[in-house]
Amino acid sequence: MSYIQSIAGPDEMFIRGSGAWLEDRAGHRFLDGRSGIANMVLGYSRRDIADAMHEQACELPFVCTLRYDRPAAVTVSYAEALVAIAPAELTAVRFTHTGSSAVESAVLMARLYQRNRGNRRKLLTVGLLGSYHGSTLTTMAAGGQPSLHQLFGPMPEGFTHLPEPAAGDAGAEDTLRRLTELDPRTIAALLVEPVKALDGTALPAEWLRQVRQFCTEHDIVLIYDEVFSGVGRMGPMFATEISGVVPDIMCLSKALTAGYAPLGAVLASDKVYDAFNLRGRFYFAHGSSTDAHPIACAAGLATLRAFESENVLPAGTRTGDQIRAQLASRLDGHPWVAEIRALGAYVAIAPAQADHVTARMAMLRHIQAQCERRGVLIDYTPEILMLVPPLTLPADDASLLASTVADVITDFRPEDVDPSALRPPSLSGRR
Ligand SMILES: Cc1ncc(COP(=O)(O)O)c(C=O)c1O
Repeated sequence: MSYIQSIAGPDEMFIRGSGAWLEDRAGHRFLDGRSGIANMVLGYSRRDIADAMHEQACELPFVCTLRYDRPAAVTVSYAEALVAIAPAELTAVRFTHTGSSAVESAVLMARLYQRNRGNRRKLLTVGLLGSYHGSTLTTMAAGGQPSLHQLFGPMPEGFTHLPEPAAGDAGAEDTLRRLTELDPRTIAALLVEPVKALDGTALPAEWLRQVRQFCTEHDIVLIYDEVFSGVGRMGPMFATEISGVVPDIMCLSKALTAGYAPLGAVLASDKVYDAFNLRGRFYFAHGSSTDAHPIACAAGLATLRAFESENVLPAGTRTGDQIRAQLASRLDGHPWVAEIRALGAYVAIAPAQADHVTARMAMLRHIQAQCERRGVLIDYTPEILMLVPPLTLPADDASLLASTVADVITDFRPEDVDPSALRPPSLSGRR
């Protein structure tokens, strides 16, 4: 916070939000084309969600679910509501408090599943290079980001990574060969993002089908990390629906509560759940104090109600399509732009230049900062510019978002980028 305060003065702190707009203390308004961090899927200042949280806070702000004693009624209602919309195979829910804790919980669940079934050698979790699974030591180890392993290493044992399938790969031959070489008798779980958070690309359906079959044959728990892709971002409610290939465990967070409260969820199949039936008791001895927080569950229920009553899923796809089409009409053929693609309400702009990741990051950060100067917030990853606005973004806001980003890219001059600028650009001088 000290560093943030050194670059953002008191007037530059956000003090309120409404719809897709944020306002700082100086009165400047910013169109939030990144939905907070891809979690504010319904925008700011929603009375329905705030009221549901307020009522829950007044009625019953908290009870502990860790001891398997009596949960809050709202937690059970929310679990039932999630199971009702999830793929039919996923019937059990465990709540956590963040995306990282959901993925970590899933990894531990897979290990204990194997142990409870007597598969004592099955200890390894296999992930894909390039994936991101969270900020805890376990989820960093599970993620395929070598830079994080170097920065925060040594990483715990029990994790390894395979190359992600190349774009256009029809099958999973290479992946299955590598899994066989690792020895399936030692593999507890395979953890993948059905759509990758960092670039918005979906794993090929045929690859997933073949991997699913391999996992079933070798009793490997297939885990989907849908922390980013779940709850409508990619078009359907869950990215699982894109391929139709259902995992054994699915992790959710971010948009579960439309960003109004921290919450994570791990949904599991009967097969996984049944492995925890020890002497008639279902027992997974793991959790944190604030897991399944009733106020967050109330926000989650209100979010699901809004998704249904406001037809949010088609609105999200319309928003993404509109932004992509408008960007393409301005930027197709532009020398800086390799590709503009949209999946649901995730729009990615891939740059054509700067093969080296450091130079590319400096360029993407520069463009992001220029957008912010013009009052539009977007995000970037090591690969792309990322536009992940609220799914309910009104058409005129979507138009403003697309035209501002197109203006900035049109005005972009590579010589303006300071490749040594490791610090985020100063906020001063904006607008
Ligand atoms: C795919 C994926 N998994 C896990 C996480 C971690 O979630 P959290 O930041 O809530 O811990 C993220 C966060 O961006 C994510 O995108």
